[in-house]
Amino acid sequence: MKLTLENVTRTYKGRIAVDDITCELTPGVYGLIGPNGAGKTTLMRMLADVLKPSRGGIAVNGEDIRRLDDRYRDLIGYLPQDCGFYSYFTACRFLQYMASLKGLNKREADIRIDELLQSVHLQEQKHHKIGKLSGGMKRRLGIAQALLNNPKILILDEPTAGLDPKERVRFRNLLSDISGERIVLLSTHIISDIEYIAKEVLLLRNGRLVKKEAPETILQELSGKVWHVTAPASELPVLAGRYIIGNLQRRGQEIEARVIAEQTPPGLASLQPPRLEDIYLYYFGDSPESEA
Ligand SMILES: Nc1ncnc2c1ncn2[C@@H]1O[C@H](COP(=O)(O)OP(=O)(O)O)[C@@H](O)[C@H]1O
Ligand SMILES: [Mg+2]
Repeated sequence: MKLTLENVTRTYKGRIAVDDITCELTPGVYGLIGPNGAGKTTLMRMLADVLKPSRGGIAVNGEDIRRLDDRYRDLIGYLPQDCGFYSYFTACRFLQYMASLKGLNKREADIRIDELLQSVHLQEQKHHKIGKLSGGMKRRLGIAQALLNNPKILILDEPTAGLDPKERVRFRNLLSDISGERIVLLSTHIISDIEYIAKEVLLLRNGRLVKKEAPETILQELSGKVWHVTAPASELPVLAGRYIIGNLQRRGQEIEARVIAEQTPPGLASLQPPRLEDIYLYYFGDSPESEA
């Protein structure tokens, strides 16, 4: 299967949120990375067919999704960024309700719900009220909801928001279990979420797709540019003015920093193997991950 975006553009009152994106997605996991306001949610809403592009189109195997209509909706599972839950529903009741909206019959829905609760590790919470679940459990329930119709295209908008590090690891494992032959597009600003599982990384900035490449390829491009620098603390303003600074630590009169620089930076500098989180630094100049 092939999902094609052609010149996909979306404006809100004349302001561009998604700017002329053309690309092709095939089965595998894609990580959509970009700072707040980059256009991730807008792009995903168009892919989920809840928002129309202002210009351009989306097609599955060459057929426009507007023409596919209901047949397209049968193909997709979508976890919105703000998934409003019915807090007085139980997990099970919520899934039954969503299943009926997706047109599953009661028998197949009940079987599917048990399978899914198991794969997102919520069997024990099956009859718990959603209002009583933790943030991580709600997110996992949202993922289960997106999988009800066994979608061939899975769109997850910040599925790991609010998950603690342990839950994030579990989510990553879950995702590699369920990805299979699906096209999975997930947005995050925590780049380690997609480590080991993403076939390609899509970098979005100001609505534009600035990069779509395998993680290894992007890392390769950063090779020779990532440094560990030890320098007198007084040099910091100069360093910060000229280079991109990651993890910064003060040690008395000295600083140690991860620095991204095309040429050898001043101070005591040694080359480092690039890591995925350096991609964020390199392309967006700051790291929400190190703040988190
Ligand atoms: N419903 C809307 N009305 C007006 N502007 C919007 C709306 N949704 C998003 N935007 C704007 O579009 C841009 C992209 O937003 P969004 O797609 O939510 O980005 P992201 O998910 O990457 O944070 C932002 O500038 C945002 O303010
Ligand atoms: Mg968003």
